[in-house]
Amino acid sequence: MTHGPKPRVTLKLATSLDGKIALANGQSKWITGPESRAEVHRMRAAHQAILTGIGTILADDPEFTARTDPPAERQPDLIILDRQGRMPMTAKVFAEPSRQVVLRASKDLAAALSGYETVMIEAGAEIAASALKAGIVDRIEWFRAPIVLGGDGLGVFAGLGLESLELAPIFQRTGVIERGADLQESYEQVR
Ligand SMILES: NC(=O)c1ccc[n+]([C@@H]2O[C@H](COP(=O)([O-])OP(=O)(O)OC[C@H]3O[C@@H](n4cnc5c(N)ncnc54)[C@H](OP(=O)(O)O)[C@@H]3O)[C@@H](O)[C@H]2O)c1
Repeated sequence: MTHGPKPRVTLKLATSLDGKIALANGQSKWITGPESRAEVHRMRAAHQAILTGIGTILADDPEFTARTDPPAERQPDLIILDRQGRMPMTAKVFAEPSRQVVLRASKDLAAALSGYETVMIEAGAEIAASALKAGIVDRIEWFRAPIVLGGDGLGVFAGLGLESLELAPIFQRTGVIERGADLQESYEQVR
């Protein structure tokens, strides 16, 4: 692991057509299809670390491993933001012995990423919004499935507290790829 400049940060989002990540009751598996999920595994293998929040661990108990064919040479580290020590030691993320799990209680999100050159954020609406507010997101990879969950579903970003459009984060679309029935849209940060 190297210490140094800010890592390149990719925010991965997997949503319905209307930008929802889960039903109001929390059900979220699986909104996107197998082709999108296979690409997410390849993306995990291409990053040094995955960053998630305790909300995602408690809701979904995901493994967060890169399951690729051929198998990844190394599993990315998993950084979990957990300020109140709610992490269950029985969580599935601990089942892969070759992978490092890092629990961080930092107040400053950027500090939690120090030491990495490439990080992919795979989290819920709270961490996704915090990452945008902190200005650390360089790239968004947005997997959008052709399903509508409605206004009572959970939105992909929690509140940003914006009081002017001029303060809204802006991204430029750099690519669109079909992934089975889904679309993968790629965006680079403009501001
Ligand atoms: N479709 C997708 O791509 C996708 C991916 C992942 C999750 N999800 C869904 O997202 C939902 C969970 O969303 P969530 O918002 O509860 O989970 P989250 O964003 O993964 O985690 C939120 C929690 O992280 C902790 N945290 C620590 N540092 C933080 C910071 N700087 N900013 C914000 N939070 C910080 C907070 O708890 P403490 O204060 O206790 O630390 C907060 O409640 C689930 O329904 C899951 O299925 C969807």
